Amino acid sequence: MTKALYPGSFDPITYGHIDIIRRARKIFDELIVAVMRNPTKPMLFSLEERHRLVIEALREVGLDDEITVIAHDGLLVHLARQLGVQAVVRGLRASTDFEYEFQLSLTNRDLDPEFESVYLMTSRDFSFISSSIVRQVRSYGGDVSRFVPKCVERALAEKLSRSAP
Ligand code: COA
Repeated sequence: MTKALYPGSFDPITYGHIDIIRRARKIFDELIVAVMRNPTKPMLFSLEERHRLVIEALREVGLDDEITVIAHDGLLVHLARQLGVQAVVRGLRASTDFEYEFQLSLTNRDLDPEFESVYLMTSRDFSFISSSIVRQVRSYGGDVSRFVPKCVERALAEKLSRSAP
């Protein structure tokens, strides 16, 4: 029985992430999505809000009964070990992602020699999306319906209207 972990900050979850989740689910018997903190990035949504949005988004696209979604505030290597996963899944969008993922993977491997990462190439349709692009487009009133599920669109509209000056 193969078990994998897909971690990310998901601020917010996009169809790009969902594409990786759907494909990883076909490869591994069990997939756990972990909503985590990236202390180097300012976040629009809280950890609890991001966690709730991932659950709602997976429900909206019909993936909810196959995947466990957790929120975790801590080191990725500790979580991976605690859950006993064989691999951590990450998506690669372009060559620019490689340097960052390389550093992440080697640091995690240094912290835990048993740590293994598996990379999936993001589908072409989603290769240009990122959570910050989605936040930026929406904050200027642009249409993000092609990039995120409806529940995320609604949460963005609500959050950005509240944080508007
Ligand atoms: N399609 C579209 N966009 C994608 C994508 C895909 N398939 N995969 C990633 N992205 C985007 C995200 O939207 C995000 O965009 P943004 O930078 O505009 O917000 C960006 O790529 C990276 O996001 P993500 O994959 O969530 O990574 P992250 O760098 O925000 O967080 C963690 C990575 C959470 C795994 C990492 O910070 C972590 O391990 N944190 C826990 C603490 C820890 O262990 N630190 C030590 C790490 S060495």
